[in-house]
Amino acid sequence: MSRARISIDRDFTIGEVPRRLFGSFVEHMGRCVYTGIYEPGHPEADEHGFRQDVMKLVKELGATVVRYPGGNFVSGYNWEDGIGPVPDRPRRLDGAWHTLETNAFGLHEFVDWSRQAGTEIMEAINLGTRGVDAAREIVEYANHPGGTYLSDLRAKNGHKDPFDIKLWCLGNEMDGPWQIGHKTAAEYGRLAQEAGKAMRFVDPDIELVACGSSSSSMSTFGAWEQTVLAHAYEEVDYVSLHAYYQEHDGDAASFLASAVDMDYFIESVVSTADAVRARGKHKKHINLSFDEWNVWYQRGLSTDDQPDAVAKAGWREHPRVIEDEYNVTDAVVVGTLLNSLLRHGDRVKIANQAQLVNVIAPIRSEENGPAWRQSIFHPFARMAELARGQILRTAVDSDKTATALFGDTDLVDVSATWNEESGRMAFFLANRSLAEAAEVEVALRGFEAGRVTRAEVLAVPEGKDRLATNNARVGEQVGLAPLQGVKAAGSELRLSLPALSWAVVELEVGKA
Ligand code: AHR
Repeated sequence: MSRARISIDRDFTIGEVPRRLFGSFVEHMGRCVYTGIYEPGHPEADEHGFRQDVMKLVKELGATVVRYPGGNFVSGYNWEDGIGPVPDRPRRLDGAWHTLETNAFGLHEFVDWSRQAGTEIMEAINLGTRGVDAAREIVEYANHPGGTYLSDLRAKNGHKDPFDIKLWCLGNEMDGPWQIGHKTAAEYGRLAQEAGKAMRFVDPDIELVACGSSSSSMSTFGAWEQTVLAHAYEEVDYVSLHAYYQEHDGDAASFLASAVDMDYFIESVVSTADAVRARGKHKKHINLSFDEWNVWYQRGLSTDDQPDAVAKAGWREHPRVIEDEYNVTDAVVVGTLLNSLLRHGDRVKIANQAQLVNVIAPIRSEENGPAWRQSIFHPFARMAELARGQILRTAVDSDKTATALFGDTDLVDVSATWNEESGRMAFFLANRSLAEAAEVEVALRGFEAGRVTRAEVLAVPEGKDRLATNNARVGEQVGLAPLQGVKAAGSELRLSLPALSWAVVELEVGKA
């Protein structure tokens, strides 16, 4: 049995929970769009072809903002291919994922889908093969009220009212040599600056995200952000971060400590952005958009769904690509990554789990078949639902475990929020130990504990091991169960976390 003592204080808050932290990502990749969110002819599809079984799960997941249409895909994409009558749209080769793109789903369809899902749109533009002109034109098409060629074309294509898209990504992973139209930091920094300027001439109210590093292990990490922001600081509002984690060679301890890397990545980008601010004598702060993150095994369901194998198989429509099946360990890691994002909510204002359906996703669906929740669905859904109000600073004194990649790491990981309006506080906890339960005591300084309104845990199902997953064959065996034995009294909360688990506890609180 390990022990952890956590203290929170009514006066020690980090800031308001940025609701955009619970974002997701839909890319034209594999089966995320086609046979994922969109499958005309499926028994559950509505008149637009939107799968309602998937839509129900998207709503339950609670994603607040969805990035679209890529990803690597966007760097070779012409947005104009996805507008106008569907039979007239061109079929194209998507070089990023070696896929035949029919363009049956495009901007209008995504706007309609987002409205149905109740999610904000985060639109990425192509700064790989295209530039300033296409950037300003898509903003005019989407956001200008009318009376110009492009805004009238939008009306002719069925949407008289502007889409009013606020959030725009200036390209994708432009630091990556794999990217179509990959650029040096100086080339990209200038392009982002000029594209951003031209887009703001059309609509001054938009928010812009510049591409940061594709991972903290890129050789250009740090220098890239510095150069890009030195050029584009005044034009952009956010700089992006991308990170994917996986277990290497059975080293579960290091994998479970992946959030240590996420903490380091975030804190390094904050320091770099603030250094550019000081050097350039800028007034505003650049915030962070962690617009791709997740567990990604880079091995998927089988070797056939790996990008190399997909490319070898020849040009096909929506092949299976990286359909990772997630287990209990992955769900605990995802819970800790969400904790890291929330604990940095003073500077990380947007985050998008990649992706939403089928492609490294919390939701899986089969063509003409069922849809279901993966293990990683649960921490995301509960945090999106319950992390409200203020983020609380957490002082953690936890027993530790030795890890090969990150040194000694806390066994218990936590984030906490307090919603003064509803009078409720929520704790999101993970026990990283594979073998031991953890006894957790929380000192609630300045609060008087009331009724426990939610106590749930995701752990290894009875008779299974940490690699247990959900799939069409076994069903949803990994999920949430009631967490027994939570005690809240006076200014103290006590609970016990099973080995390798993620848990949520919500309680009513008053002022002590
Ligand atoms: O999410 C899958 C891919 O990962 C995205 O297309 C790309 O941006 C990243 O490398």
